Amino acid sequence: MPKSGKGVDNRAGLELEKVYRGGELLGVLERAALARALLVGVDDLTALGPMEIVLEVTSRCNLKCPMCVRTFQCGGRPSLDMPVEHFDRILANLWSGTERVALAGLGEPCLHPELASMVSRLVESGFPVVLYSNATRLTPSLSDALLNAGLSGVVFPVDGHSPEVYEKYRVGADYLVVRDNVLDFIGRRDALGVDCFVEVQMLKLPGTENQINAYRHFWKDAGADAVRYKADHMQDTGSRRSGICPMPWRGPATIDVNGRVFPCCVQDESSVVLGSAIETSIVDLWNGPIARKVRRDFRETRAKLATCKACEIPLPPVPVSAGGSLLSPFAARRILTASERLLNFFSFLGGKK
Ligand SMILES: C[S@@+](CC[C@H](N)C(=O)[O-])C[C@H]1O[C@@H](n2cnc3c(N)ncnc32)[C@H](O)[C@@H]1O
Ligand code: SF4
Repeated sequence: MPKSGKGVDNRAGLELEKVYRGGELLGVLERAALARALLVGVDDLTALGPMEIVLEVTSRCNLKCPMCVRTFQCGGRPSLDMPVEHFDRILANLWSGTERVALAGLGEPCLHPELASMVSRLVESGFPVVLYSNATRLTPSLSDALLNAGLSGVVFPVDGHSPEVYEKYRVGADYLVVRDNVLDFIGRRDALGVDCFVEVQMLKLPGTENQINAYRHFWKDAGADAVRYKADHMQDTGSRRSGICPMPWRGPATIDVNGRVFPCCVQDESSVVLGSAIETSIVDLWNGPIARKVRRDFRETRAKLATCKACEIPLPPVPVSAGGSLLSPFAARRILTASERLLNFFSFLGGKK
């Protein structure tokens, strides 16, 4: 049974539906088992897999954003599209309990010519799908195809509220084209009456701080469901040493363009590879000897893992990490967005004194 609902027209119910999608109740026990494993340090998850998957359908990108790891770390990485036959085999190897498949990674998904049919196949197999896109290549027909394919959500990173600021960070993109593409997508979603959660996000980068209020009003008025002002992982490392990373337990696991599976959202040369999702089921990889060793090493001393030593993503305190694992990926993101807003508000108040 598909987990994502389409065409819900009751606005009051819609908000809940967007957070607590079908499958929520089924996932509670699995999430509780993952949260417990994280709290007490169990490395064997038996029949459990990652609640979230990041799937990189292409490693090609048309931009050179200076804050993106793809731009400054992956110079020698081949740029290619995932062959459809590999996608088919990966789809067959996904864990049925996975509650969110994010089409992202280190590339621009809209450059893949088969993107809409991939979304459709994932949705038909019961996976809620969220697309991350720079929106430069969104055409009216691609937007319609994605919306009709049953996309649960889309994240548009619009890093600035003027051509000057935006184009400094989204190098190669035209602000006005991107803004209009996103507005057109929202208009088409509303005209089709489909339930697709639109998040517009701006990173905290120099020059954006004076734009956030106007940005928030603009995109809320335009019909975005969420507007995030998000930490730049390359700069904002203050809280990362204090907590624990939930990813090796609950995911997201990343499947790169070559089908390689990583135990978290970071994929670089030092990352541990669990195996190939083209050859092996995700549940087997998530419970195999390499994944179990990653969890053991992680609990004993993160310093053993080269990827973790270099990682800049903030780490939540243990109770937050474990508690977050109890929520569905959609609910967890809603709470994260709300707490980000609160933190931004308090730091604004602090700055005014
Ligand atoms: C790497 S991109 C890939 C998908 C697509 N090309 C895009 O730009 O959305 C995925 C996400 O990473 C985010 N991202 C890139 N650099 C970042 C950074 N330094 N800190 C936090 N998020 C970052 C982007 O804003 C985007 O939401
Ligand atoms: S568009 Fe996305 S993948 Fe490409 S460089 Fe920018 S953030 Fe990275």
